[in-house]
Amino acid sequence: MRICVLHGPNLNLLGGREPDVYGRLTLEDVNALISSHAESLGITASIQQSNSEGELVDAIQDARTWADAIVINPGAYTHYSIALRDAIAAVDIPAIEVHLSNIHSREEFRKISVTAPVCAGQIAGFGANSYTLAISAAKQLIESRE
Ligand code: DQA
Repeated sequence: MRICVLHGPNLNLLGGREPDVYGRLTLEDVNALISSHAESLGITASIQQSNSEGELVDAIQDARTWADAIVINPGAYTHYSIALRDAIAAVDIPAIEVHLSNIHSREEFRKISVTAPVCAGQIAGFGANSYTLAISAAKQLIESRE
């Protein structure tokens, strides 16, 4: 089982970026957590970060050729990127949207996700554990479809 994990814009700054909101773990720390959780479930997680909308679209399109599911934190693109929404809708593998923070308890503009409606589900508010929960959910989803 292979899962494509995508981090969107500004997540490369984790650890130093608004630590009260996003925690003190760096992206490297979060990726280590994702990899070890995935490994414990027998999953290969391929992890990428990009600040660019087009690169994320390319990565989603590419994932359809090799991945069983996508776990994506679209960052701020969550709230307005129709291009990412269309890419997720275009591929026939399930996607799970992840957020470190609980976007529903923050500013009004963050409560809107244009990407969540085309995902299998959304996990938000558990810090780095949002990703490990999403990996577990993706595994169950893939197995239930087999
Ligand atoms: C985020 C929430 C977004 O609103 C924000 O733009 C981010 C991070 C999160 O993980 O909590 O960049 O996706």
